[in-house]
Amino acid sequence: MGLLEKKRPAQGARRTSNSASGRGRRKQAQVIAFANQKGGVAKTTTTLNLAAAFQEAGHRVLCVDMDPQGNLTMSQGVDPDAVEVSMYDVLVNHVSIRDCIAHQEVDVACASIDLAGAEIAMSTQIGRERSLEKALDEVREEYEFVCIDTPPSLGLLTINALTAARTVIVPVQCEYLSMRGLVQLQNTLAMIRDNLNPDVEIAGILPTLVDSRTVHAKEAIEMLEESFGDQVFASRIKKTVRFAEAPVRGMSVLKYDPDGKAAYAYRQLAREVLGVDT
Ligand SMILES: Nc1ncnc2c1ncn2[C@@H]1O[C@H](COP(=O)(O)OP(=O)(O)O)[C@@H](O)[C@H]1O
Ligand SMILES: [Mg+2]
Repeated sequence: MGLLEKKRPAQGARRTSNSASGRGRRKQAQVIAFANQKGGVAKTTTTLNLAAAFQEAGHRVLCVDMDPQGNLTMSQGVDPDAVEVSMYDVLVNHVSIRDCIAHQEVDVACASIDLAGAEIAMSTQIGRERSLEKALDEVREEYEFVCIDTPPSLGLLTINALTAARTVIVPVQCEYLSMRGLVQLQNTLAMIRDNLNPDVEIAGILPTLVDSRTVHAKEAIEMLEESFGDQVFASRIKKTVRFAEAPVRGMSVLKYDPDGKAAYAYRQLAREVLGVDT
């Protein structure tokens, strides 16, 4: 399920056609959106920790916080209420995305609370679904991966993320109820493919918050595999308190507890996404 293997050569060529000119161009970033319209399934946790694992493996990474709650921004130690330029300005006023990037443990394009108003402000703009895709053109050659965190809805902010992305990682909490929403997400993706971004595909579905002591979690993963087959990552993210502790310190779990199981799980996922044999 390696992203690198799946990448179609034509894609890069198409994407570059309207961006910077010139030959000898550097490789373009792979853009990954982390989406599930349900809240509390570890989208933000996965965006940050997978990004940190890519970075640890030597890749240049940008995280983009598209959630007005600003949890990703906060989890890197930046106060969303104090940022002067945020993704709101990028999406609505077309300010350069560089101006809202905080250089923390990983680079983060920050959210602020006013991002909540972006959907309405963008709703009358022509090309409103492509605002993020356009904004990223400026930094595509600076990063190898762009990891986009999305809010718990399928509104215009998430649509922007899915339009800008080449692949989508879907964190799923292993409970029966939380898996029902996946069909709705798949329908949205089909619509995006038909209208906005024909090549976007699911890189994988990631079982998160797995409590391996319970029969329920085991059964829920089995159900997930029955329904979605090899779209389900082999990696599993188990429940541990480390994930609640690390953001309070403004760190990923890879930095907070580098030798712990939580860090190991995201390193493992990074290898799976990169298509590295383990
Ligand atoms: N593997 C895990 N084990 C325990 N707690 C977790 C784990 N992953 C995430 N959490 C916690 O669950 C909550 C929701 O995670 P979060 O990443 O914010 O979800 P989302 O972005 O989908 O709303 C957070 O408090 C987070 O610290
Ligand atoms: Mg979140």
